[in-house]
Amino acid sequence: MTHRIAVIPGDGIGPEVAKVGVRLLERIGLPLQFDWFDFGADRYLKDGTILPQDFLDTLRRDYDAVYFGAVGDPRVPGNEHAKGILLAMRFELDLYVNLRPCILIDDRLSPLKGKGRNELRFTVFRENTEGLYTGAGGVFKKGTADEVAQEIEINTRKGVSRICEAAFAFAERRGMARVCMADKANVLLFGHGLWRRVFAETAQRHPAIQAKAMYVDALAMDLIRQPEAYDVIVTNNLFGDILTDLGAALTGGLGVAASGNIHPGRISLFEPVHGSAPDIAGQGKANPLAMALTGALMLEHLGYTREAGLVQSAVEEQVREGARTPDLVPLLGGPASSTETVAAELLDRLTART
Ligand SMILES: NC(=O)c1ccc[n+]([C@@H]2O[C@H](COP(=O)([O-])OP(=O)(O)OC[C@H]3O[C@@H](n4cnc5c(N)ncnc54)[C@H](O)[C@@H]3O)[C@@H](O)[C@H]2O)c1
Repeated sequence: MTHRIAVIPGDGIGPEVAKVGVRLLERIGLPLQFDWFDFGADRYLKDGTILPQDFLDTLRRDYDAVYFGAVGDPRVPGNEHAKGILLAMRFELDLYVNLRPCILIDDRLSPLKGKGRNELRFTVFRENTEGLYTGAGGVFKKGTADEVAQEIEINTRKGVSRICEAAFAFAERRGMARVCMADKANVLLFGHGLWRRVFAETAQRHPAIQAKAMYVDALAMDLIRQPEAYDVIVTNNLFGDILTDLGAALTGGLGVAASGNIHPGRISLFEPVHGSAPDIAGQGKANPLAMALTGALMLEHLGYTREAGLVQSAVEEQVREGARTPDLVPLLGGPASSTETVAAELLDRLTART
């Protein structure tokens, strides 16, 4: 059976890294069909299209995954096209798991003294459809001295339950021992009280996994002090957003950080954590490794575990022995190479493995 992948390269460095990612995945020789879509700032500025009405239906009906570059362009200062493209897919396709592995691939990429590959190996399950990111709320008496602004945090039993379940199921599949839930239940009594209760109920269904609930501020501190104490972290949308940037910084930065927006068993979207990086777009400086690792996450989601491992190990070898883009030079040393040079070497490494 051929898996159909919708490729949306987007803006800035998105197309530069998407091109590399697709070339890599094609090299493996799997039955994957890549269809390219031009949604992004150019298209929006040309004819006003953000995401056509029927595109989401097409995705649901005909596609298995979306392989996404990045969106964001200085010519669209309000970023409305980016929100309309990415957030629409996250919410409309109900991609409730934001999966972000924070796994160090080379000891030299760690900024923490004495913490290397054996210590930095945690994965974050960020709730992706609720919390403070639904747009619920409003302003009253705007612009006056009496202005009131409210942002409402949405926590549903269904939403909390399914992300907790996904985190425990992942830990079980991977043979991991521990799941930690991060909240602020000491002050956010209602919403995060619900998280505490649902997390405890979920933990009871997975007695072989050690479950621990922590306040997010304490966890942020502990991730620097002893990251090795964590295998899987599950948390809400806002805290996940922040903790995963911390996780990216602990494991080599945006150039190597991959993510999935997943609804288990349904079409899901895979994207590097980084944005469109307008400061380096068009200069051949973009690191394509995050997009390559994102491809590995997508392969895994599609059931190609062995092939995902091949991509992962080719990237690891590239970091260990190969050319690097300028973003990794401060960590790895050596001269800086172009996106194209890194991509060519990476392709050779993958070819040698297939
Ligand atoms: N998922 C997404 O599509 C997404 C995510 C974050 C930001 N954005 C958008 O991207 C635009 C730029 O945002 P930003 O500058 O805050 O974040 P960014 O991730 O684009 O860039 C931050 C810094 O990291 C560098 N960087 C990022 N990816 C890199 C890579 N692959 N190789 C080498 N260096 C890399 C950039 O050059 C920049 O200095 C904005 O419009 C923002 O809204 C989009």
